[in-house]
Amino acid sequence: MGLRSVLAGVALLGSLADAASSFSPARPPAIPLAVKSPYLNSWLNVGSDGGNGGYLAGEWPKFWSQQNTGWAGFIRVDGKAYNWLGAPPGADVVDQTEFSYTSTRSTFVMNVDGKVEMNITFLSPVTPSDLKRQSLVFSYLDVGVHSLDGASHDVQLYADVSAEWASGDLNAIIEWDYKSADGVVYHQFERQNQAAISETNQQANWGTWYWSTKDEDNLSWQIGADTDVRGAFIDKGVLPNTKDANFRAVQDRWPVFGFASDLGSVGSSTVSTLYTLGMTQEGAINLLGEGSDLTTYPALWQSYFDSAVDALTFFYNDYDEVAKLSTDLDNTVASDSLAAAGQNYLTLTSLSVRQTFGALQFTGTDSDPLVFLKEISSNSDIQTVDVIFPAIPLILYTNPSLLDYLLKPLFLNQENGHYPNTNAIHDLGTFPVARGYPKGDDELMPLEECGNMIIMVLAYAQRTDDDDYLAQHYPILKQWAGYLVDEALIPADQISTDDFAGSLANQTNLGLKGIIGLRAMAEISERTGNDDDAKSFGDTATSYIEQWQGFGLNTAANPPHATLSYGDDDSHGLLYNLYANSLLGFDDFVPKSVYDMQSNFYPTVALKYGVPLDTRHTYTKTDWMLWAAATSSQETRDTIIGLVADWINVTPTNKPLTDLYDAATGDYPGGLQFTARPVAGGHFALLALP
Ligand SMILES: *[C@@H]1O[C@H](CO)[C@@H](O)[C@H](O)[C@H]1NC(C)=O
Ligand SMILES: *[C@@H]1O[C@H](CO)[C@@H](O)[C@H](O)[C@H]1NC(C)=O
Ligand SMILES: *[C@@H]1O[C@H](CO)[C@@H](O)[C@H](O)[C@H]1NC(C)=O
Repeated sequence: MGLRSVLAGVALLGSLADAASSFSPARPPAIPLAVKSPYLNSWLNVGSDGGNGGYLAGEWPKFWSQQNTGWAGFIRVDGKAYNWLGAPPGADVVDQTEFSYTSTRSTFVMNVDGKVEMNITFLSPVTPSDLKRQSLVFSYLDVGVHSLDGASHDVQLYADVSAEWASGDLNAIIEWDYKSADGVVYHQFERQNQAAISETNQQANWGTWYWSTKDEDNLSWQIGADTDVRGAFIDKGVLPNTKDANFRAVQDRWPVFGFASDLGSVGSSTVSTLYTLGMTQEGAINLLGEGSDLTTYPALWQSYFDSAVDALTFFYNDYDEVAKLSTDLDNTVASDSLAAAGQNYLTLTSLSVRQTFGALQFTGTDSDPLVFLKEISSNSDIQTVDVIFPAIPLILYTNPSLLDYLLKPLFLNQENGHYPNTNAIHDLGTFPVARGYPKGDDELMPLEECGNMIIMVLAYAQRTDDDDYLAQHYPILKQWAGYLVDEALIPADQISTDDFAGSLANQTNLGLKGIIGLRAMAEISERTGNDDDAKSFGDTATSYIEQWQGFGLNTAANPPHATLSYGDDDSHGLLYNLYANSLLGFDDFVPKSVYDMQSNFYPTVALKYGVPLDTRHTYTKTDWMLWAAATSSQETRDTIIGLVADWINVTPTNKPLTDLYDAATGDYPGGLQFTARPVAGGHFALLALP
């Protein structure tokens, strides 16, 4: 059976639906539901490796690392209950007829027995230039109901969340309360044992969760065991307004936090109910930066709000405004993507925005923000330089200042003497503790990270004209450039960012990065008035790029191509670092002949679902393919993008968009899963070029 038929079969089995849903613009491997930060990051598994084909009802939403995040919904129409969210027992599921996504929204349309239609929208706002809104770790669920058959129907709507959101340890004791403020009612719950700046199974061990809706006469609520609360709604359509007095573990008679809204008699005009779900933390990240001890950085929302409840009620009441801002972003991404490379490209870019921003934690203050990045599934490293690097196209496209905020923790750590090596550091430790490596024992990717840091710093400065920034960091940038002078032309046996592919000497693509890094350092020197350095780095870069062409290109092959490593004539790989040359506008540096050579070559080695990363394996990476596409002819670019867009629709992978997959089968490579990672920001490569 082909992938497509496997998936379709699973979809029908999983949905128990009479009719299949449409999926537009594609059926992604997992659907983002509430994806706003590393700790508010829940999805619906779709692909046939374990998902249900993309049907909201009958499947529990999952945290990216695959714990269930209990989120359940029922609707009662003329006295009969139906399940529309999650997989609680006790009712038939609604028929899903449509699913669609944009950059910030996932929308489902449900047919309930031919009587009413539900329009269910999950909105996780992304406001890259509005830090107040971006700092809020909250997400919306908007449910509209209207009659389908011309008649009016008696409707009650129910939704709950479980305590699973608040702890990765199901034995942790949870405390809760029910309150109201500013026209909003909310269930508040948190771990009794707050262990700040620590995690269990990737979920935070600290912070308070809020599940809210509008304070209305027709609302009832209950906190209690899942079967009691859901059972009450299914039977009566109303909850008793009581809270269980017995604080207990997440999995001890599963406490859930329920809301029921009596919508009354629903006719053809839509009746909407808005919920929000999110969390607040005070201290967010520990960083070894200034001083000799770890400093706790506050979550950024505190710079704008006096209390968590102020933040939560602001978020609830801000829906109309932030929905508009989100639509603006959706529309901008759509029109730019369509203009750049058409619908296949938009299918990919619009799936990548929430995933990328969902890996970011905003901290510090309004006047001095720091943004921390979690590598997510590959491991939980914080501030990994070669994970920020692939993501920069989306960052530069939406707000270049964010790159400053992302690099700041790396500079604070290294410029304050906490890293002994002369090369740039690989990462700062394990999220949420950014201790760095005072002994210099980080994962060794020296050439990779020296090149990445210098390229990123210049890309930021070019877009903001912030030459003071370059002057401020000049000494350490020059130190890293010195490393490139010594090591970039003949790369020692080492790993690149693609560490899973193994180590190798003389990697052509890695050498190219280092050499472009030197060319970038020449411009940094020039912009800061260091003219002698500018000449010296510029001359070295020019000499190296000429020699590199002799070492790394197999011009005798038919067709000619860059090799994976110098002299290994039959080898090849994605020469994605060429993109850095374009990103920095170095039109006269790497010759156009190299671009043409690779552009002509890629289609000749493409497999069914993409161009392999290199000759060692059949797997590939979506971020690097898009970097390569952005340096190719229109024809090659569209071929690559077409393969990736097709793969998104048919892949059996079932977790948040993996960037690493087998280009021959479309599935995960053995044992390796790179899901939900912020490197999806690299899909914006076409839109970040100057
Ligand atoms: C669903 O609701 C959203 C927002 O309220 C609206 O933009 C969209 O057109 C609706 N879709 C359908 C199919 O009703
Ligand atoms: C609330 O309930 C009353 C009585 O059942 C009904 O008349 C009214 O329309 C309802 N209000 C809303 C907002 O649904
Ligand atoms: C790396 O390439 C250079 C230049 O071709 C060559 O002299 C050197 O022997 C190579 N090193 C290894 C380990 O292959």
